Amino acid sequence: MQTIQLKDKEFRLYISNLEIEKKIAEIALKINSDYHQKELTLVIVLNGAFRFAAQLIRSLTIPIQITFLRVSSYRGIQSAGKVENNFDVDLPLGGKDVLIVEDIIDSGLTLQHISAGIKKQQPASLKVATLLYKPAALKYDVTINYVGFEIPNDFVVGFGLDYDQQGRGLNDIFVLNEKLSE
Ligand code: IMP
Ligand code: MG
Repeated sequence: MQTIQLKDKEFRLYISNLEIEKKIAEIALKINSDYHQKELTLVIVLNGAFRFAAQLIRSLTIPIQITFLRVSSYRGIQSAGKVENNFDVDLPLGGKDVLIVEDIIDSGLTLQHISAGIKKQQPASLKVATLLYKPAALKYDVTINYVGFEIPNDFVVGFGLDYDQQGRGLNDIFVLNEKLSE
């Protein structure tokens, strides 16, 4: 079993890069067909989603626009329970078909916050793509349209996701080698 150490914590291999890339290609196929002959505006949630977004875009054949949003609700391995962001996307989203691109949906707080901000701009449509989703952790009423992997309520790193800013560059996804207390 492959394990890695990041700061004080040990993580074990969970989802290989091959599986991740295969799954993202499948999501891109669905998006290409759902938005056939439309232009899609991606709102990429920094920092974690940069890598998912980059991989997704490789397989998108529809025309796209891209903008970024910086949000953060995590400290260490627990949600801080509040979202910090400066909500200014550098593209007008009114009338656009918008897709939020997230690394992971945990409580759903971040997504709810972002969705509310975007809806104020009255996009033509708003959907959500996330690489990872923890259904057992969900506390807010959010709709998720494209999901890579549903995972248990465990802390993961790699492929853009971090533990205290470490591990984002890992090509595979690793899971914490201990159970999180509820
Ligand atoms: P939420 O607002 O509770 O849904 O948390 C979502 C954000 O918390 C994600 O966009 C991530 O940045 C971060 N996050 C949640 N779970 C994890 C995890 O297992 N590993 C790393 N970051 C996480
Ligand atoms: Mg995030």
